[in-house]
Amino acid sequence: MRRKLVAGNWKMHGSLAENEALLSGLLAGMGNVKAGVAVCVPFPYLSQVQAKLNGSAIAWGAQNMSQQAKGAFTGEVSASMLKDFGCAYVIVGHSERRAIYGESDALVAEKFAAAQAAGLTPILCVGETLEEREGGITESVVARQMDAVINKCGVAALAKAVVAYEPVWAIGTGKTASPEQAQAVHAFIRAKVRAQDAGVAEGLIIQYGGSMKAANAVELLGQPDIDGGLIGGAALVAEDFLAICRAA
Ligand code: PGA
Repeated sequence: MRRKLVAGNWKMHGSLAENEALLSGLLAGMGNVKAGVAVCVPFPYLSQVQAKLNGSAIAWGAQNMSQQAKGAFTGEVSASMLKDFGCAYVIVGHSERRAIYGESDALVAEKFAAAQAAGLTPILCVGETLEEREGGITESVVARQMDAVINKCGVAALAKAVVAYEPVWAIGTGKTASPEQAQAVHAFIRAKVRAQDAGVAEGLIIQYGGSMKAANAVELLGQPDIDGGLIGGAALVAEDFLAICRAA
């Protein structure tokens, strides 16, 4: 049985004071949560989050990192720096990074490899745009994004990773994929991995992301191949995020 994992993606939100309140709220409400829980926060707050969550049931991570290990890369943050602050996870290939910052499949695969080399668990985001969905190429887009990583790192690398299926048209829009739509793509991803390694496929956590909230979490998380969520907007309010964690 795969243990469900709910991860918050705070994006570029928060302040020392807001984070303090949010994290206190989360810690206070973790009592009846059985799923794995993590928060992925902006770099400057990693130290705050580490101090606050150390020894708790909530893990933490970052939302991006450099593919480089160290050197003259102004403004970049390496995987080993994230390890220094106790990160367990790092999101790679979020659609906002792909679309706004031009991250290619190849770059995302390099980041994935660098994260694992440092002992971090990458949360690999994949997903199609509305245009791609309407063009009937959802599966080929997701396959291409997955293959970039599998071809570089090998399918066995997915044993120490999480995949997040995030249809771009559902992110931050309030439009959630229906449980059937999401399940179909999750099953496709798992079948694709199974074709290369059945054991890795069975153990692989595949999160759904895109306007997941308390009201739709139970139905989404009830699908056989949906193993958790990557939560944006609803991760910024303790009660909303905890409701999803409890549903999981
Ligand atoms: P959302 O974002 O929950 O606000 O749609 C999810 C994500 O982008 O990871």
